[in-house]
Amino acid sequence: MPEQPAALTSKPEWQALIERRDKLRSVSMRELFEQDPERADRYFIEGAGLALDFSKNLITDETLGELVALARSCRLEEQRSELMNGGKVNLTEDRPALHTALRHPGNKTILVDGVDVVTEVQQTLGRMETFVDGVLNASRTGFSGKAFTDVVSIGIGGSYLGPKLVGESLQPYRQGNIRCHYVANIDGTDICETLRQVSPETTLFLIQSKSFRTQETLENSKVARQWFLDSGGSEAAVASHFMAVTANVPAAEDFGIDADNVFPMWDWVGGRYSLWSAIGLPVALSIGMKHFRDLLAGAHAMDRHFREAPLERNLPAVMGLLSVWYNNFWDAETHAILPYDHYLRSLPDHLQQLDMESNGKCVTQTGQPVHYQTGPVLWGGVGSNGQHAYHQLIHQGTRLIPADFIIPLKTHNPVATHHADLFANCLSQSRAMMAGKTLAEARAELRNEGLDEETIDALGPHKVIPGNKPSNTLIMEKVAPKTVGALIALYEHRTFVQGVIWDLDSFDQWGVELGKQLGKGILPKLLSEDAINSAGDSSTDQLIRRFRSANGL
Ligand code: F6P
Repeated sequence: MPEQPAALTSKPEWQALIERRDKLRSVSMRELFEQDPERADRYFIEGAGLALDFSKNLITDETLGELVALARSCRLEEQRSELMNGGKVNLTEDRPALHTALRHPGNKTILVDGVDVVTEVQQTLGRMETFVDGVLNASRTGFSGKAFTDVVSIGIGGSYLGPKLVGESLQPYRQGNIRCHYVANIDGTDICETLRQVSPETTLFLIQSKSFRTQETLENSKVARQWFLDSGGSEAAVASHFMAVTANVPAAEDFGIDADNVFPMWDWVGGRYSLWSAIGLPVALSIGMKHFRDLLAGAHAMDRHFREAPLERNLPAVMGLLSVWYNNFWDAETHAILPYDHYLRSLPDHLQQLDMESNGKCVTQTGQPVHYQTGPVLWGGVGSNGQHAYHQLIHQGTRLIPADFIIPLKTHNPVATHHADLFANCLSQSRAMMAGKTLAEARAELRNEGLDEETIDALGPHKVIPGNKPSNTLIMEKVAPKTVGALIALYEHRTFVQGVIWDLDSFDQWGVELGKQLGKGILPKLLSEDAINSAGDSSTDQLIRRFRSANGL
């Protein structure tokens, strides 16, 4: 266990930021821009094919320096090296977190318990390539000899959200006609609606589960296999239609998956960081291995940027520190992810697990209760849709909600002036957040509309936009394998930076265990009369009774 670091909030660097915040309370971003014509240029950094405009933030050069000083006092650079060199940064599980090894080009040795993981990764990528090429060139077919037309990926959490996001994001790079379906929910609707869309003879099932113990995935896989057998597939044919990606090969074999049809995962990869592994097979089957390797290359480029760029010019470090700034010094409780590209519409979903399952913690790495806010609620949605849903609250609500706008300079689908319209919407939203609209400006507008003074007096206050609300704008040339890889890796490292400041283990997830345990106890009470003893509280008991009554149990 590392020695007890000085409590975060007693650090002089923390105190300096409190003083800085107090000074900035009386400063508006409008003023900061008016005072410094070079502001936008100075707060614009690039790396790994992405560029970040972080000038619309409540910061000065001094603030940035003080945030970096805090990071250094928390040993961010040393911890970054630990992470990327295979140190056991996942303290409670005594494991490394080597998602960066999954996308390393291979010319490096990283040992975990004496095994060179980079070699294992490269070997697995080779197996993936052979498999993917076989499916795409139809040398590998279903039991009837027909080419596969559909892939059903059964997994949840990191075995679902990451592949689904990347599969959607890279739709323009699809090879062949493979349709990918993602099933996660234990709600039977998910698997049933999917099976209605596919034919057993041309469908490939991927059972995606690092533990191979996740209830949703196992139950859905059993339904899929039974459906396959009931629809013309044979036990023998299961071998050519069901593959597994797991760290638990014996469990996969017990399920009836041939060992040859199991792709490995490893304990040193967290579920929410695993899309770069064979968990990414649905993506590779959709876009082909060349584009999948480009995805990995983009992420690796971001790894290099994170490792090499000075903290003040480092995209993950700057974004992570700005998130800490608002979360801990401006009482921001949430952070909005606003991708202005329809292909990136599932980015907030994936980042919710990535960030909230990593930093939704209340004890430090050594188990001490924290006395400060840790992970914020991450939420968001695709622009411009959000402008017609929740941007009202962002602009005129009582809360400070920092936002990340993410938009490509070019579209895959040029039509009319749509991309310029989208870009104008994105820029207008971040400008409105920053500049707002004063009462005087609102009154002048109403006067120009010809309204009388009484109406202006009544309506004016409702038209004021407070402004001074911070946002980042991330741009890229286009949504493409390399830029999507870099974007997701950027947020992985941003999450890591925050966890280092808050002194958390960002790679375990003990908080999800209680729900699973309680679920195991409640299920038999729902299904069988003889277990109607109390579930522990009258609310749960009455709801169990109502479920049983409604379902004639
Ligand atoms: O939510 C808990 C969790 O363990 C996630 O961390 C993980 O991504 C998900 O469940 C699925 O786990 P597995 O891949 O082992 O089925």
